[in-house]
Amino acid sequence: MKDYKQIIASLLNKESGVAAEEINELIEIPPEKSMGDYALPCFFLAKALKKSPVMIAEDLKNKIESNEFSKIENKGPYLNFFVKSEDLIENVVSEILSNENYGSSNIGQGKTVTFDFSSTNIAKPFHIGHLRSTVIGNSLRNIFKFNGYNTVAINYLGDYGTQFGVMLAAYKLFGDKEKISQNPIKELLNLYVEYTKLQEEDESKKDDARAWFKKLEDGDKEAVELWTWFKEISLKEFNRVYKLLGIEFDSFDGEAFSSKFVDDVIKELREKDILVKSDGAEIIEFDDDNIPNVIIVKSNGTSTYIVRDIATALYRKRNYDFFKNIYVVGGEQKLHFTQLFAILQKMGYDFSKDCEHISFGLILLKDMRLSTRKGQVVFLEDVLNEAINKTMEIINQRDPNLENKEEISRQVGIGAVIFQDLYSNRIKDYTFDWEETLNFEGETGPYVQYSQARGVSILEKAGEIKKDVDFSKLSNEEEKFLAQDLYDFPEKVKLALEKREPSVIARHLVKIAKSFNKFYNTCHILSEIDEIKYPRLLLVEATVKVLRTGLGLLGISSPDKM
Ligand code: ARG
Repeated sequence: MKDYKQIIASLLNKESGVAAEEINELIEIPPEKSMGDYALPCFFLAKALKKSPVMIAEDLKNKIESNEFSKIENKGPYLNFFVKSEDLIENVVSEILSNENYGSSNIGQGKTVTFDFSSTNIAKPFHIGHLRSTVIGNSLRNIFKFNGYNTVAINYLGDYGTQFGVMLAAYKLFGDKEKISQNPIKELLNLYVEYTKLQEEDESKKDDARAWFKKLEDGDKEAVELWTWFKEISLKEFNRVYKLLGIEFDSFDGEAFSSKFVDDVIKELREKDILVKSDGAEIIEFDDDNIPNVIIVKSNGTSTYIVRDIATALYRKRNYDFFKNIYVVGGEQKLHFTQLFAILQKMGYDFSKDCEHISFGLILLKDMRLSTRKGQVVFLEDVLNEAINKTMEIINQRDPNLENKEEISRQVGIGAVIFQDLYSNRIKDYTFDWEETLNFEGETGPYVQYSQARGVSILEKAGEIKKDVDFSKLSNEEEKFLAQDLYDFPEKVKLALEKREPSVIARHLVKIAKSFNKFYNTCHILSEIDEIKYPRLLLVEATVKVLRTGLGLLGISSPDKM
C-alpha cells in the first residue's frame, strides 16, 4: 500500500535536504478536511533555510512537482496535501481485500510475551472488579499475537495464602458440603464472611485458622483435599464466565504453583545479602527513598505475596524466556509491582527491565460496593447475563423475527460490556451505565457490530461482486473519508501495541463505523448502475473486513445479522 507520509517526506527531503525520517515525524493529520489530508508545519526549516516559515511554505509549494496529490496548498506556515481520492480508495481497498491480515505485522516474530491477567482468587467471587484485567489483558494479548508475537495467557490464580486457613477452619466449623456443591462461590464466601465475624469476637478462632494454614503448607491430607476441592469448584464457575467472554488461557499456574519455589527464592535473597532483619521479620530496603520497605518473611515465619511473585517472575523467565513479561493488574497494586521489579533488579536480573505493570482505573457502580468482606458483591457472571437478557429485550423490540436470537443476544450483550470497558483510556475510571453500554446508536460495541452486520447484509444481497472496477467513478467525499479511516487502521493497531492501549482501536472502530454510516446514508449502492455499484460494494467489503478484524482484536465477535 502506498505510504503517503513517506511520499511527502521524500519529496521534501529532495527540496530541503532535511532527512526524510525527520520530516515524516512532523507530518500532521489536520483537524479539518478542508486543510488537506496531511499537513507539514514548516517551522522546523526556518533555521536551516534562514527564511520565515510562511515564505518556506510558499517556496516549497511552488517547487514541488508530484502527481500523487490532487492539490498541494500553502496556508500560512503550513503546507497542505490533498490525496487523490480514487487513488486512495483503490489503494486501500485492494490492499485490504488481498491481505489476509490487514493491519498486522510480524515485528514480534520469534519473541514470546507472557500476559498475567484476570488472575481470579479461588473461593472468592469473580466480581465485576475483575472485568477490566480480564478484557484488557485478553485484548492486549490478541494485539500482540496479531503482530507476530508468541503469546502466553496466564491466569495467576490466587489459590494460596493465609486466607485458605480461614476457609478450612470455617469449613470444619460450619461447612455444608451439599450446599457448597450447589452454589460454590456464594456459599464459600458466606463461610469466609461468617468466620471473619467470629474471629473479631473470639481470638482463638484466629489460631485455628493459622493452624489450618500450617496443615495445608505441610501437605496434610485432609487440608490438601479440601483445598483441591475448593479450587475445582471455583474454577468450574470461573470457566463459565470465561466461556461467556470467549477467553482462553494457556496456563492456570497460580500462587500455589509458585509457592513451591519460595524457599529457593528466600535462600537466594539471603545469599545475595538483600534481606535485612527487622523486629523478627526479614525485609528488603531500597536505595530509592520513594519505595517503602517490603516484608519478605513475617515474624511468624510465613512468606508474603510478593515472594511468590518473585518466584513467578524467575519461573517465567526460565520456562518461557520472555521478551516482555506483562502484568495487567489494577492501579491499587502499583506499589507492589514497583517493589517487585526493583527487587528483581537488586537480585541482578537484567530482565527486570522487561517486566511491565499495565495498570488501569476503576469501574464505578452507582451505590454498589465491591468489597467481599461485607458480602455485597456484584458477580461478573450476573452482569454478563443481565447484558444478554437486556439485549434480547432490545432485539425483541427491533426485530422480533430475527433468527438465532439467543446466540446473537449473547454476542451483542457480551460485546457491549467488553467494548464499553475498552473504549476509554485504560488508566481512567469509568462508570458502568446500562443505557450507554447497550445503545445501538451510541459510541458502543452494538453500534460497531451493527454497522458491520449492515455491511454483511448489503454484500449478501449483492451476490457476486465484479472485482475489475474503475474507482475514479467514485467522487463523493463520503467514500474518500471512509477509505481514509480504513487506511489509518494499521497505524492505529501499531499505536495500540506500543501504548498497550486497546482504546486506540476501539475509538478508531467507532470512527470507521460513523464514516461507513454516512457513506451508506449518502451513497446508494445496490440501486446504482454497475460502474458505480461495484466499486462501492468493494468499499463495503473492505469496511466489513476491517471492522471484524478490529472487533476480534478487542475480543468481540461479529454477528452477521442483528
Ligand atoms: N489475584 C490478585 C488479585 O485479585 C491479582 C494477581 C495479579 N498478578 C500477580 N502476578 N500478582 O488482586
